[in-house]
Amino acid sequence: MIKKCLLLYLFAFLLLLWSCRHEPAGLGEFDQVCFQTEVLPVFQNSCGPCHAPSKAEGGKDFTSYAEIMKAVKPFDASSSKAYTVLTGKPFTMMPPSGPLPKETRTKIWLWIQQGAEETTCSSGGNPPAVTTLTCFSRDILPVLSNSCGISGCHNAASAKEGIVISSYQTLMASNIIKAGNPGSSDLYEVITLPASDKDVMPPKPYSPLSKAVTDSIYQWILRGAKNETCASACDTTGNITWGGAIQTIIQNNCQSCHSGTTPSGNVKLTTYAEVVNAVKNGRLLSAIKRTAGVPAMPPSTPLSTCDIRKMELWKNQNYIQ
Ligand code: HEC
Ligand code: HEC
Repeated sequence: MIKKCLLLYLFAFLLLLWSCRHEPAGLGEFDQVCFQTEVLPVFQNSCGPCHAPSKAEGGKDFTSYAEIMKAVKPFDASSSKAYTVLTGKPFTMMPPSGPLPKETRTKIWLWIQQGAEETTCSSGGNPPAVTTLTCFSRDILPVLSNSCGISGCHNAASAKEGIVISSYQTLMASNIIKAGNPGSSDLYEVITLPASDKDVMPPKPYSPLSKAVTDSIYQWILRGAKNETCASACDTTGNITWGGAIQTIIQNNCQSCHSGTTPSGNVKLTTYAEVVNAVKNGRLLSAIKRTAGVPAMPPSTPLSTCDIRKMELWKNQNYIQ
């Protein structure tokens, strides 16, 4: 009898233990969040402008998994700075311009609760999945003016609701874009409504904008909704190669002083081998990042953030020719 009772107690105890597992109920129902396509692009695009190796505000870099993990406690979003700053708790709000859309914050929360692994996935995954930087003048304005800035809608003559979508200036004057904050931008909201919603734009019978376009617009607003021309957009997709990018950067910015028989600082930067050597064994990267204690290179005008990023990627990808 006593034995039976003990067994019963043990059973009840186990039941209690089982019901106290600290995983919040229902988490297992969510699909695995994909770090590569759903999390990394958010950090790179929304935080990268201020938190990259070349410019790490507050000492934080949010452009790679390893660096992001320094601000993440797996399974515990509320103790992870990478998440708490998104909600402004306890005090810092990131990005400073305003909170990310709620669904984006939730996705990052979920990714951390699922263990914050460096998950990759071949397909699927929700926005923002755009890793290519599209530029406004080439990729966005033409689509918007052709889809919205048309007669009877938002060209200068019709100007429905006072909104004119024919140039960067008229678009921004229409007050439907909040730079840095797609979630509060009316433009982004109406183009992403479900096709059945009466407020969706473009309205029926026009066809909706493709997801690639709405994703690019999301990214463009996040980057600050600037009047970008293509030359200023930084394309770091694919591999960064010597022939494709690096040689030109060095030629245009360094060889005036680092070539010939008496190169400045005795550093010659004319061939692939010489540049690899200067990055590997020298202080080239510190010099272009203008790190204290190293001569700033080029001495007068710094390289663009984009060129610095390319130099770093080229090194990380092990100097592809
Ligand atoms: C416009 C520039 C800018 C953007 C964009 C930005 N930050 Fe920051 N961030 C800063 C500055 C400046 C500081 C330093 C603030 C300080 O030291 O008080 C900082 C500090 C931080 C810190 C350290 C805060 C602390 O309390 O230790 C974290 C974490 C952080 N940012 C995360 C992020 C994340 C995540 C994003 C993207 C979602 C982001 N930041 C976007 C400018 C930015
Ligand atoms: C206007 C001339 C000029 C240009 C342009 C220039 N440099 Fe220099 N560079 C110098 C001089 C002068 C020194 C020696 C500085 C010193 O020792 O204080 C130097 C030194 C260096 C060094 C050695 C730094 C060290 O002390 O370890 C590196 C690496 C370097 N430059 C890289 C570059 C790169 C990369 C570029 C282009 C992105 C570049 N430089 C563009 C003039 C130039």
